[in-house]
Amino acid sequence: MEIKLPEPDKSSPLFKLLVKRRSIRKYAKQPLRLEELSRILWATYGVVDSRRRVVPSAGATYPVEVYVFVKSVEGLKPGIYKYSEHEHSLLLVKEGDYSKELSSACMDQEWVRAAPVNIVIVAVYERTTEWYGERGFRYIYMEAGHIGQNIYLASAELDLGTVAVGAFHDEEIKRIIGLGDEYIVLYVFPIGRAH
Ligand SMILES: Cc1cc2nc3c(=O)[nH]c(=O)nc-3n(C[C@H](O)[C@H](O)[C@H](O)COP(=O)(O)O)c2cc1C
Repeated sequence: MEIKLPEPDKSSPLFKLLVKRRSIRKYAKQPLRLEELSRILWATYGVVDSRRRVVPSAGATYPVEVYVFVKSVEGLKPGIYKYSEHEHSLLLVKEGDYSKELSSACMDQEWVRAAPVNIVIVAVYERTTEWYGERGFRYIYMEAGHIGQNIYLASAELDLGTVAVGAFHDEEIKRIIGLGDEYIVLYVFPIGRAH
């Protein structure tokens, strides 16, 4: 038996964004504004209050760390930064434009090289596996999905373009950022103004 559902009303702000969301791989050369990066990062892993962030996390273990590869953002030097979510600030890890190295680690995906910003999502897996054992890995991948959808929807809201990039050599990305064995690399999101 099939029950036909009523046509969903897609006129509300969230539903409009769900319709608008798509992968965009061509970006204008314009730099991003700091205000735009701030909103994207808050939507990625921002703190809402003392108990919650913008995404769910298994057992509230929050294993994720967010790194930002800046090629061209108004008011920021090119570099690799760590997003400090409690302070909502950026900590400089390494100065310089590493977009070519990151693109090479992502099988030469052109959109990674060209984007003014790449957000790299990594996790310290033991924060979750110490509670959940092997199943913790699954939970970390699920959390990355929540984060990714937030990045897509925030980009759509701001008229920016992004694409989820999952094809990369983990060890190369870890080497570029300077991350140890306790990390896994989950996702790369180039962000730019849609061309
Ligand atoms: C886990 C995952 C990995 C992906 N990896 C890549 C990738 O490495 N490069 C890329 O260009 N797109 C990648 N995509 C984006 C998909 O190609 C895209 O979502 C799909 O074609 C559907 O298009 P849409 O996002 O516009 O709806 C990935 C998507 C997901 C969910």
